Amino acid sequence: MDIATTPTNPEGNPELADAAPSPQQPPVILREDYRPFGWLIREVSLHFDLGVTRTRVRAELAVQRNARADRADMIRLNGDSLKPVSVVVDGAAADWRMDGADLMVPLHGDSHLIVIETEIDPSANTQLMGLYASGGMLCTQCEAEGFRRITFFPDRPDVLSVYTVRMEGPKAAFPVLLCNGNKVAEGEGEDSTHWAEWHDPWPKPSYLFALVAGDLVANSKPFTTRSGREVECNIWVRPEDLARTDHALESLHRSMKWDEETFGREYDLDLYNIVAVSDFNMGAMENKGLNVFNTKYVLADPDTATDADFDAVEGVIAHEYFHNWSGNRVTCRDWFQLSLKEGFTVLRDQLFSQDMRGEAVKRIEDVRILRAAQFPEDAGPLAHPIRPDSYREISNFYTATVYNKGAEVIRMMRSMAGVDRFRAGTDLYFDRHDGEAATCEDFVKAIEDGAGIDLGQFRRWYSQAGTPRVNVSQAVEGGSLTLTLKQRVPATPGQPDKLPMPIPLRVAVHLRATGALGAEQLIVLTEAEQSFTLPLAGPDPVVSINRGFTAPVVIDRTLAREDLVFLAAYDDDPFARYEALQELAVGHLVAQARGEAPGDGESAVVGAFRAILTDTDLDDSMRGELMVLPSETYLFEVMASGDRKADPGAIHAAREGLKAAIGIGLADELDALHARTSAVALDDPAGRGARKVKTQALALIAAADPARAATLAAQQYDAADNMTDRQGALMVLCGLDCPERAERLAAFHNRYRDNALVVDKWFTLQALSLHPDVIAQVRELAQHPDFTLRNPNRVRSLHMAFAGNPQGFHDASGEGYRMVADVILALDPINPQTAARFVPSLGRWRRIEPGRAALMKAELERIAAAGNLSRDTFEQVSRSLDG
Ligand code: TRP
Ligand code: ZN
Repeated sequence: MDIATTPTNPEGNPELADAAPSPQQPPVILREDYRPFGWLIREVSLHFDLGVTRTRVRAELAVQRNARADRADMIRLNGDSLKPVSVVVDGAAADWRMDGADLMVPLHGDSHLIVIETEIDPSANTQLMGLYASGGMLCTQCEAEGFRRITFFPDRPDVLSVYTVRMEGPKAAFPVLLCNGNKVAEGEGEDSTHWAEWHDPWPKPSYLFALVAGDLVANSKPFTTRSGREVECNIWVRPEDLARTDHALESLHRSMKWDEETFGREYDLDLYNIVAVSDFNMGAMENKGLNVFNTKYVLADPDTATDADFDAVEGVIAHEYFHNWSGNRVTCRDWFQLSLKEGFTVLRDQLFSQDMRGEAVKRIEDVRILRAAQFPEDAGPLAHPIRPDSYREISNFYTATVYNKGAEVIRMMRSMAGVDRFRAGTDLYFDRHDGEAATCEDFVKAIEDGAGIDLGQFRRWYSQAGTPRVNVSQAVEGGSLTLTLKQRVPATPGQPDKLPMPIPLRVAVHLRATGALGAEQLIVLTEAEQSFTLPLAGPDPVVSINRGFTAPVVIDRTLAREDLVFLAAYDDDPFARYEALQELAVGHLVAQARGEAPGDGESAVVGAFRAILTDTDLDDSMRGELMVLPSETYLFEVMASGDRKADPGAIHAAREGLKAAIGIGLADELDALHARTSAVALDDPAGRGARKVKTQALALIAAADPARAATLAAQQYDAADNMTDRQGALMVLCGLDCPERAERLAAFHNRYRDNALVVDKWFTLQALSLHPDVIAQVRELAQHPDFTLRNPNRVRSLHMAFAGNPQGFHDASGEGYRMVADVILALDPINPQTAARFVPSLGRWRRIEPGRAALMKAELERIAAAGNLSRDTFEQVSRSLDG
């Protein structure tokens, strides 16, 4: 049976117990309902007759009964918005029928050849799933369930086939024809057409199929693998973008080398193609031998891309490359196992970027993303385990939980096993499951066997949602210190009671009086409450805990302010320094937002900032990390602990107030920092760090002295010889009410009007701005001739950015909520996957103060009442209202 489409048994599913599925109530798919598919499809042959408005597809499926599945005299071939033109089995017209969107074909023998013809209109495909047109070219996106929009097929990741594909089309429109694997033949056809035949020797699931046809040019450079094979590497783009592809190509080579050295993984084809497309729902896609990328994660040069953009390109190129082993050679049995490939691949790309750019800075960035995106998810109505138990629309589960918490969970195994034993575990995993569709359980078992560690209790990390909280208390007795740790995993939707989980924590005990730094050790909290005795060398112990963020948990403790200041200034673990400063700021800001006595919290933070601004041993990249104040989203989470609610207005005011206090208290230091870093040249090795802190200094000056900041920012903008400085200056100007703002915004648009990725930045800077009129500005920008709901990058650049602007989105009038709900309703019929991604911002209503909560909930109800919602948006809205 096909788990992806079989309606589930109502008895087994409380949500459906009294409501039959209807178009408004798409069925719930359950992990426990998995059954192997009844048929094996060892070989697939596809024939594409390509046209932008009309593409004909002929699929030949060689099917064989699967001895490991229940016998069925029918095959279910998934479809989505498809009508069969013809269905032929073993040379005769078949007696098929439709079941919903699926094609049902009776099959009575043990092996058959099914030939199906379909016809599709790529130009009408606005969902960008399946075969679609983007800027004159044709491309595909099949993960998770897009292949069924191309042809009828068992569109599930446990059906692995060898694909042979013949593509043909007009030579003028599509001079380049690409597909998975290797090109085995090509030639000219009639009427100015041409064709190419591709063969991918590696069996793969349908979600890894890809095809591209268009007017493209390649930046090409061969890579020699460690066993001496030469791999042709190409980055395919539109001719005008070729000059911005070197960084992507170099990043690919670095990734290939790193995976050989670090995980022992070598590439397995003679060709690696990457194509950049400008209409894309996500970042990129790891199709075998033919990655398709959002242009945003390919194109970069210093004039148009920031340093952060360069890093993102490198990280995504690496991510997709690493999927060749963690995802393609070993794929997922079903979509509940998504974290098997995504969590592991995110960990691999994080470790790669740590090696390329510095461990501490990258680790801090990754923890910041986790706290800003995943912690709120885990605390809200959409909380789910990294291996979910049910879904209605799988696209909704490409989440920070599956990706980023999934990576943290595997990182914990690595911390507990140690790097070398972990490697033995991953070697065993790849060896044992190569060519298979595996499960998360297979992965854990392989690490357990290969690394020789017991992960029995650890498996709870796969089944329990929610961010654990660890309460820390300490007692000194003679020459030792006793740490008492208590863990609690909060209730999440469908999971009221939780069991304790193993929580690995790196700890060290420092001595404040002498400044002596203690040795680090790893302790693993496994019980609900547990004490650990640590040796103590002197008085005034300060415990540094969860160093390097070994576990994705919240540490609850009250540390004396002078202890935090000590850790922020002296801890030998850079992450712990960052963390202490965050704790100091969070404590002050949340107290401030709650209207509790502010005490001298502000001056403590200002003092700690002074130390950081003037510490000559710090490099600017690390200084830049330490200078980032906790995000408002993270502060909501802290403020909304227990029964208490978050007040976005109060948090925003407190945070802006602290920025102003730093700007006033450290005016001279910030000026000096801005001046020093402005003198560092673009290609100086210290340039990156300098550019990072330069704009941070400017933003703090802006909070204290807007007039001075306007002058400095305009100067920085005019002097800039790179996008990092230019965008940074414009970001600061956007938040100010000054003539320089409009002038520089116009200049920026004028200079880059033909570069879509930079025009995206122009929208984002305004949508994220601190300007008091941001709502009106965004409303107007939505009418700008450059704006369109049809391009996901553009939608994200304006509306997603606005939904992440705490001041605008949470405006007490509710206007921000209304605008986002309007976007969801307008976008849902065009691109449901992207529309649904806006829902979680409104879904946080339960944790927000009652006035705003009612406004947010009302918008969700307005969406729910609209009717005709996509599966994607329906699922997110209903979970957000019920959860
Ligand atoms: N597998 C892709 C990645 O993480 C994710 C992805 C790309 C995707 N495009 C998608 C997921 C479309 C769902 C829908 O690398
Ligand atoms: Zn991925």
